Amino acid sequence: MSLIKIAKGSEAKHVYQNGISKLPILVGEYKDAAFERVSLQAGAEWTPEIYKLTEHNQVFLFTSGKGYIKTPRQAFIIKEVSVFVPEFDVEEFTIKCPVDAKETLEIIHIVTEVNDYDKTCLVESRMALPRFRGVSEAWQYKEDFTGADIVQKMMLEHRNLGRLSMGANFGSGPNYIGQHIHNELQQWYIMLPGASFTYTAGDETIHVEEGDVTYTKSGSLHGSECKEGERFAYIWFELCTDGYPGEIK
Ligand SMILES: [Fe+2]
Repeated sequence: MSLIKIAKGSEAKHVYQNGISKLPILVGEYKDAAFERVSLQAGAEWTPEIYKLTEHNQVFLFTSGKGYIKTPRQAFIIKEVSVFVPEFDVEEFTIKCPVDAKETLEIIHIVTEVNDYDKTCLVESRMALPRFRGVSEAWQYKEDFTGADIVQKMMLEHRNLGRLSMGANFGSGPNYIGQHIHNELQQWYIMLPGASFTYTAGDETIHVEEGDVTYTKSGSLHGSECKEGERFAYIWFELCTDGYPGEIK
């Protein structure tokens, strides 16, 4: 069984109904997270299902295109790579691709299971929701095993949304993200427009591009390289298997 699971962007064939297409990806690869690609054509409006805090958490990652999200109290403009986390079932919201949009609004929708750690954590202290953050508004962090000029952005902070976290890496080749390991973190990469690089986990090496989504289970050594003319542009999404060590469980 291969270590790196991949849903290729080039193999995604959208089928639209009322301007919306949903394609489940990486089905069954990890029990606690369900992924789907959602695409909205110009003029389409989507009102996703909402869940109680004790049922599921969900995250919407906007990877390309423009649009907006409307809640009863607020509106968020999607004009760059952005993430949205609704406040569970507190309020409904709609995601809209404008009538005059030149391109589709592309979304990776993630629904996660809420375990006991999540329930405790989310009730005791969590980031204020709904959270909407564009990549240009995200704070920058640095890991010493990455190339000096890799730009790393925090989209959803660890320990502030139960087991979930999300960030982004950008950089031009030649460049590298050194081999490292996360013993507790399940890890997904979502390749953004312009991405083209080589990803290695364990003894497997693959080339990834825009639209690809990979899943690598916890505990495997992994890293990436991009050559001259290639580019790092991806979102990482992580789920701590049981909860962060040393914390409430
Ligand atoms: Fe990693």
